[in-house]
Amino acid sequence: MHHERHMSQPLSSADALISAVENQRMFDAIVPRYDRLNALMSLGLHRRWRRQAVNRLDPVAHALYLDLGTGTGDLCVEILRQEPAARVLGIDPSTAMLEQARTKFTQLGVQDRAQVVSGDACNLDIEDAHVSGIVSGFCIRNLTDRNRAFHEMYRVTVPGGRIVLLELTRPSQPLLRAGHRLYSRLVVPLLGRALSRGDAYRYLTHSIEAFAEPAAIVTELRQAGFEDAAYRPLTGGVVALFSARRPAGMTDGIEA
Ligand SMILES: C[S@@+](CC[C@H](N)C(=O)[O-])C[C@H]1O[C@@H](n2cnc3c(N)ncnc32)[C@H](O)[C@@H]1O
Repeated sequence: MHHERHMSQPLSSADALISAVENQRMFDAIVPRYDRLNALMSLGLHRRWRRQAVNRLDPVAHALYLDLGTGTGDLCVEILRQEPAARVLGIDPSTAMLEQARTKFTQLGVQDRAQVVSGDACNLDIEDAHVSGIVSGFCIRNLTDRNRAFHEMYRVTVPGGRIVLLELTRPSQPLLRAGHRLYSRLVVPLLGRALSRGDAYRYLTHSIEAFAEPAAIVTELRQAGFEDAAYRPLTGGVVALFSARRPAGMTDGIEA
């Protein structure tokens, strides 16, 4: 399949997108309008997708959850909305996004339970089996080394803990797929150019088209050691909700 190369760095494979540094620069630049454009481009559906993801996580009181690629912190907020006595840690390489997340947490009065730190999902500065579960929204599509990130997710999650990932995908039904392609090739870049940084939103279209099929992601999750790995298409397959669990009672592959 032919993909235009919109960003300065050439693509080495369909899944290898842009470097973490370029990614950070891109997200830093779109922060001021990020939340509003999210709502606009998803036609307001992003809230429902987040709600469904956190439902699947099923957070419990006093447990610590990780949000990888937290951006402006919306999934952290949703976790605390569903379980106010939980704690959340958001990680993102974009310092501008994290600033926005901190402001949001303070405005909502959840800053005592929600923290964000700068970091990379592929190389987490977190101890083994430290968190009760992980969420990640619209981030794994941007990772240059997804397998490494999946192994990191496995490592830092407690045995029995669940990970839930949201990602933008392409519907499988042909008519929906065609409509979706039109929307993402015409409307998304147009809105992006009109209201934010055009190149970031061209990248968005490109990265959705280059992203692996959901079934392949499920296989990768199993290969990283997770069990109960599955995905559910949301809104006709515009988004996929992946979930998987680190097997209970195992520590580094050895029965505890
Ligand atoms: C499309 S935004 C999604 C933000 C947020 N999760 C949401 O649902 O609105 C993707 C985020 O992933 C972050 N990101 C990119 N590469 C990353 C990496 N290697 N590790 C962690 N986060 C990364 C970006 O900085 C950006 O904030």
